[in-house]
Amino acid sequence: MVRALLCHHCAVINPTSAACDVAPLSASDGSIIAEFVVLSMNWRGTEGWTIESVAADAHLRKYSNAWGLSSYDRGVVARSRQGTALGACWSRLFHPDDPGYGFVDSTTPELGLAVVRGARARGIGGMLLDAHLSQLAQLACAQVSLSVEDGNESARALYTSRGFAVVGRHGNSDTMVRALGSDDAVCL
Ligand SMILES: CC(C)(COP(=O)(O)OP(=O)(O)OC[C@H]1O[C@@H](n2cnc3c(N)ncnc32)[C@H](O)[C@@H]1OP(=O)(O)O)[C@@H](O)C(=O)NCCC(=O)NCCS
Repeated sequence: MVRALLCHHCAVINPTSAACDVAPLSASDGSIIAEFVVLSMNWRGTEGWTIESVAADAHLRKYSNAWGLSSYDRGVVARSRQGTALGACWSRLFHPDDPGYGFVDSTTPELGLAVVRGARARGIGGMLLDAHLSQLAQLACAQVSLSVEDGNESARALYTSRGFAVVGRHGNSDTMVRALGSDDAVCL
């Protein structure tokens, strides 16, 4: 398993995957989130969500709209040496009046994760998830949630391996939660 642990402002070089850097997302990275929300919606490879259709969907645009305005808008991005974004893991807090699909409560951020197709199964998703859990633990978040659709077994296996457990159900998706503690807040 590849692990990369992250300081607030430093990029970390993945020690084993070829040519990949992980760095925190900044407040101006809303377009990167929008791109990876589309990829996570298209996890089957057949759905056909686009930047435009996600932006037009009231339930989906909240994942990237006005990114960076809240101090809880945090995430990490993996980039190739050429600067291409290969994957991202991020989270946001939502309000009970406008919850995300994996909403638990107003103090629990909801996480998203996706890796571009050509870079999957090389440890990048796991590395991004570990780095983002560290970010959230450094913010003193007690837990983080997410939503995973039925059939998305690669994502489910990854989440389960990192200690996420199913706590609820929303439509055709499970809501999973992972408690965070000081052990997660490791910073190299
Ligand atoms: C889910 C996803 C982010 C995983 O990223 P990745 O870079 O391929 O994952 P990794 O190579 O880091 O693998 C991490 C773990 O996932 C699991 N995994 C990855 N690919 C898998 C596959 N095809 N089948 C089963 N398990 C798989 C393994 O348990 C692996 O365990 P390890 O860390 O002990 O090796 C990626 O497949 C993806 O972007 N999918 C489409 C978008 C998506 O589904 N997002 C999540 C929405 S809830």
